[in-house]
Amino acid sequence: MDNIILIGFMGAGKSTIGRKLARDGRFVFVDTDDKIEEEQQEKISHIFETKGEAYFRDLETQALKDLLSCKMRMVIAVGGGLPMREENRRLLKELGTVIYLKAEIDTLVSRLTGDTSRPKLRGGSLREKIETLMQQREAIYLETADEEIFTDEKEPEKIAKEIKERFFPDL
Ligand code: S3P
Repeated sequence: MDNIILIGFMGAGKSTIGRKLARDGRFVFVDTDDKIEEEQQEKISHIFETKGEAYFRDLETQALKDLLSCKMRMVIAVGGGLPMREENRRLLKELGTVIYLKAEIDTLVSRLTGDTSRPKLRGGSLREKIETLMQQREAIYLETADEEIFTDEKEPEKIAKEIKERFFPDL
């Protein structure tokens, strides 16, 4: 399929950039976290608390399967932990071109300081949490992605423009 999928760490800008990209290219924008929250009528942090992370991860897989039957061309922003499941990586590749939005640890720390909505970042040192998760995830992000885009010190507008020029120059 010829959708564009944005992967990367929490705070990498997947949703902000995805929304701009979709608007400019007249794609439908889908954020898997929003889709899950709408369908479950529950915040992700609450799903983690009451039903656990494994349950949330199953919802992510189901969300990707649902999107496979969608006929519209989409820009899809996925949660930062979604590519960790092998089945999800296979589904992502089926859905379209996967772009890894890369951000340095310092950038992520500054963007995520004060965030209280993300269960994976709760408690303890934010920097340590980011570093540990990034060590587990970065190789998988790189392995899953067809392309990598650096987001540090760039405005979302500029990144969306860069993606547009690289992937659909005719629009
Ligand atoms: C998570 C990232 C979040 C959300 C959930 C878990 C993760 O999405 O799916 O809190 O494990 O990295 P964003 O990457 O959009 O913040």
